[in-house]
Amino acid sequence: MPHEENGRVIEFENVGLRYGLGPEVLQDVTFSLPAGSFHFLVGPSGAGKSSLLRLMYLALKPSRGLITLFGRDIATTPRRALPALRRRIGVVFQDFRLLNHLSAFDNVALPLRVAGNREDDVRKHVIELLSWVGLKDHVGARPPTLSGGQQQKVAIARAVIGRPRLLLADEPTGNIDDKMAFRLMHLFEELNKLGTTVVIATHNEALVARVGHGCLRLDQGHFAAEPGIEGVSGSPAPVGRTAGGTRDRLLRSSAGDAA
Ligand SMILES: Nc1ncnc2c1ncn2[C@@H]1O[C@H](COP(=O)(O)OP(=O)(O)O)[C@@H](O)[C@H]1O
Ligand SMILES: [Mg+2]
Repeated sequence: MPHEENGRVIEFENVGLRYGLGPEVLQDVTFSLPAGSFHFLVGPSGAGKSSLLRLMYLALKPSRGLITLFGRDIATTPRRALPALRRRIGVVFQDFRLLNHLSAFDNVALPLRVAGNREDDVRKHVIELLSWVGLKDHVGARPPTLSGGQQQKVAIARAVIGRPRLLLADEPTGNIDDKMAFRLMHLFEELNKLGTTVVIATHNEALVARVGHGCLRLDQGHFAAEPGIEGVSGSPAPVGRTAGGTRDRLLRSSAGDAA
């Protein structure tokens, strides 16, 4: 698997997106995210945040423009190579997309099992992470029996547990109270310190202001990087650095994708 070239995890160049024959919902989006950066993606409802994230995790193709992911032009990357790129991305979907026939435990374990981790390691880390987000007593519960906030925590745990290279989260704290929202933001920051590039879409500007970090701003499909964001925001964390904190232990590197 090639490493991202010139330290860029993802680059957009004059990207436009339309759904079907509709108008462009994203227009001339140009930015690049350095490896190890942390950004909020902000803008009012309908601005195109979810659409931009869908392009980033390859659920949609752009109508025009160039997208480079981990150093590869996705338009010319063979289809068979896309799943491997996709597996390096952790996604927190706005609608969670948990597997309802599996327990919370098995949902969160999935990325570690796919990566071939040993079952006793899987068990240890999944229990530890679910406990940390406050779901210790619900590891065996199926998603439909959990509240919206609890399902959101399971979705976040599943997205971060394999320590992806890129973490994309779509309104990840929309169903969670402020105190827990900050706790989860801290989890994303710890993941970021271990080298993961993080993009969090939110319309919660209060959260953005309190947590800090750079902003990518969308307004009616038009894109603006806040001052100092184009190119670089925040210093890239050294990949593979181990701080030895709780979250470091919680966030396991998945086999073959640690560095
Ligand atoms: N699947 C879709 N089909 C058609 N239009 C869509 C679809 N998803 C989003 N849109 C439109 O794209 C625009 C941006 O939506 P979205 O990306 O969901 O914004 P945000 O996440 O910022 O609220 C809106 O006008 C929305 O109606
Ligand atoms: Mg959205």
